[in-house]
Amino acid sequence: MTSLTGKKIVVTAGPTIEAIDPVRFLSNRSSGKQGYLIAEALAHRGADVRLVSGPVCLPCPFDVTRIEVESACEMLAAVEAELPADVFIAVAAVSDWRPAETRARKAEKSALATTLHLVENPDILRTIATRKTGRPDLVIGFAAETHDVLERARAKRRRKDCDWIIANDVSGDVMGGDENAVWLISDHEEIVWPRTQKAGIAALLSDRIVAAFSGI
Ligand code: CTP
Repeated sequence: MTSLTGKKIVVTAGPTIEAIDPVRFLSNRSSGKQGYLIAEALAHRGADVRLVSGPVCLPCPFDVTRIEVESACEMLAAVEAELPADVFIAVAAVSDWRPAETRARKAEKSALATTLHLVENPDILRTIATRKTGRPDLVIGFAAETHDVLERARAKRRRKDCDWIIANDVSGDVMGGDENAVWLISDHEEIVWPRTQKAGIAALLSDRIVAAFSGI
């Protein structure tokens, strides 16, 4: 028996892409690496991992069930379809906005500049963390910040109602790189994990989750 055997964990990863028309979209620079490594580390510890992933160029980790999505709305629906779960970890870089309408035909570029209207996407982490019924026991978010990292992450944890937030300094080459430097912030502690390989962060986080479920 491994340490997370019997626990179902839903992880979001990668970017979302929001279609403007059949050939254009809005997105961001997320590679999905950190979320995929977390999914892999959790599966290695025996968890039943559902990886809800935006479009990335990564193979599905061993022993992980991947659900592929494109947009933020699809990602939210896929996460909700996987509940109930014991843990939810939002690692995805969800696109903040989507076009108010997705055009069925390629739009004229001159018209797009003046007619492209954006609407805000649903906040997947907050939606899951504030569920009245079926909220996972442990809800974890990431806070990708380029400045005032800790201060902004603390405020984000409270705003999104999640139990832990991993504060992530993305001012350097973190987006797309293999290394990460983070802090784990909960309501009673702040732990620093100095710059290390993203696989190392995934292992440290997975071990904290194991400890949380063993009451250590
Ligand atoms: N997140 C989410 N759904 C969104 C936006 C963010 O689930 N629509 C999650 C991310 O997966 C991450 C956390 O919320 O776990 C924080 O994401 P971040 O991009 O840092 O925060 P935003 O809410 O976009 O805030 P801002 O861009 O204003 O810093």
